[in-house]
Amino acid sequence: MNKYNQIKTIRYMGNKNRLLDFIIPEIRKIAKRSDIICDLMSGTGAIAYALKDKYTVYTNDIQYYSYIIDKAIIENNKITVDKNIAILDLQEHFFKNQSKKIYHFFEDNFTDTYFSGPQCCEIDSIRYAIDQIKDEYKKDLYLTALMYAMSKCESTSGHFAQYLPKDHKRLVELRTKSIWEEMLVKCDDFSSLVMSKFENKAFNMDYKDLFQKEEFKKVSCVYIDTPYTGEQYSRFYHVLETVTKYDNPKLEFKAKYRTDRFMSNFSLRSTVKQEFKEMLSFLSKENKKVVLSYSTKGLISIDELEFIFSKTFKHYKLIEKDYQHSTQGKGTIKINEVLFVAYN
Ligand SMILES: C[S@@+](CC[C@H](N)C(=O)[O-])C[C@H]1O[C@@H](n2cnc3c(N)ncnc32)[C@H](O)[C@@H]1O
Repeated sequence: MNKYNQIKTIRYMGNKNRLLDFIIPEIRKIAKRSDIICDLMSGTGAIAYALKDKYTVYTNDIQYYSYIIDKAIIENNKITVDKNIAILDLQEHFFKNQSKKIYHFFEDNFTDTYFSGPQCCEIDSIRYAIDQIKDEYKKDLYLTALMYAMSKCESTSGHFAQYLPKDHKRLVELRTKSIWEEMLVKCDDFSSLVMSKFENKAFNMDYKDLFQKEEFKKVSCVYIDTPYTGEQYSRFYHVLETVTKYDNPKLEFKAKYRTDRFMSNFSLRSTVKQEFKEMLSFLSKENKKVVLSYSTKGLISIDELEFIFSKTFKHYKLIEKDYQHSTQGKGTIKINEVLFVAYN
């Protein structure tokens, strides 16, 4: 257990919950209490959540599910829920949809893929019930609890690029879990959510678009955790995008991907170097302090990255840490987690 605020939301490739002791002290060393800190590619919001009691924090991610989590746990400074409140808010609508099937996208499209038919019905019914809620942050909290429940019950090895085969030994156990029950239990975790006096904000766009926003001018310190492998987040977590948007998307291939998936330049060998150059040059020109996480197993080498820092910032340092990293179902590997701290 580390000493920083932490909350479990979804199982997420590269989430930094286990590295808070390594990262947070470095951010605190260079950020003043009055600084606004932006978690530029926030994923589960783990870093922003750990900073939220001491600083004003902004979050941003291109994925909509991430934006929902960030609104629920970072921007939200007033609403909590628990299991009993969730039952009062959702149960009647949940059972109405279970019998009338007003919402049925998951049942129609995902039965016997990542979830069983009954689990898909539960997802549709929870989604219907959440849409009857008026308060925006309550909705975000329930959607986050639903995503947590889905990631506990999914018949996968840890992401949505592929589901388990029909004869897999864990299939019966996973497919008989109740998403509704798992979701209700999760709501209890949100009764003790960290609240702060700061006006935090969550954004949902390509970070380059955020750079052009008026709000970004107020940011003094930027934490950056780019993807570092060739795996696109939009491919691994498309089902979470679909359940949060619930927008009847066109789906393709056996994995049922959305056709409108975002492709990040940080996950393409041909573009990653230029992307880092342009991003860091911009931040240096704007005089932002930067803390950047990367890995020794990344698409670009640490030497190349260090070279870019040396050309863009007046001061930078590089810190490394050994880390046991889960490989989404293929066991663990040892990597070095790297942190660059830079300023002018
Ligand atoms: C390594 S994960 C971040 C994990 C996060 N620090 C955590 O603890 O959960 C990288 C994130 O970058 C986001 N991303 C990739 N390219 C992006 C872009 N161009 N603009 C904004 N977000 C982007 C992905 O959606 C993903 O959530």
